[in-house]
Amino acid sequence: MKIALTINGTKREVDLPPMMRLLDALRTELGLPGSKEGCGEGECGACTILLDGEPVNACLVAVAQCVGREITTVEGLAPGADHLLPIQQTFITEGGAQCGICTPGMLVAAEALLRRRPDPTEGEIREALAGNICRCTGYQRIVESVRAAAALRKQGGAP
Ligand code: FES
Ligand code: FES
Repeated sequence: MKIALTINGTKREVDLPPMMRLLDALRTELGLPGSKEGCGEGECGACTILLDGEPVNACLVAVAQCVGREITTVEGLAPGADHLLPIQQTFITEGGAQCGICTPGMLVAAEALLRRRPDPTEGEIREALAGNICRCTGYQRIVESVRAAAALRKQGGAP
């Protein structure tokens, strides 16, 4: 069945089962493997994408639920390949990018927070990332990366 989706600012007509999980569609059908599968049941946040600007778990969303809405994946967060967002820059400089499984979802959730709360408290950062689980390294560097990104955005680093 033909379904029209808007992904990372581009309209695409795709032939997919309407009830296919968005996560599977992105990773296996649409060439966007950045969103990761951890738990597959809405618990880990590795698959976090933005749907109309709100972070959601792509493993819990069917393709049909995305018709007429804006899907943004980690691949489409930055305005261009040579223009990283502050949150992407500080995940590198502050060590927030810890592994390839949790990082994409952390970036998406953190960017969503910064767009609605440009100067979040540590508590707000931790709350916003509460649905994004790290099973190994811990959250301190991730929280520091978000704080540093907020400061960078304030200096004019936000696109
Ligand atoms: S894979 Fe979607 S929340 Fe874990
Ligand atoms: S799960 Fe990615 S660093 Fe812990």
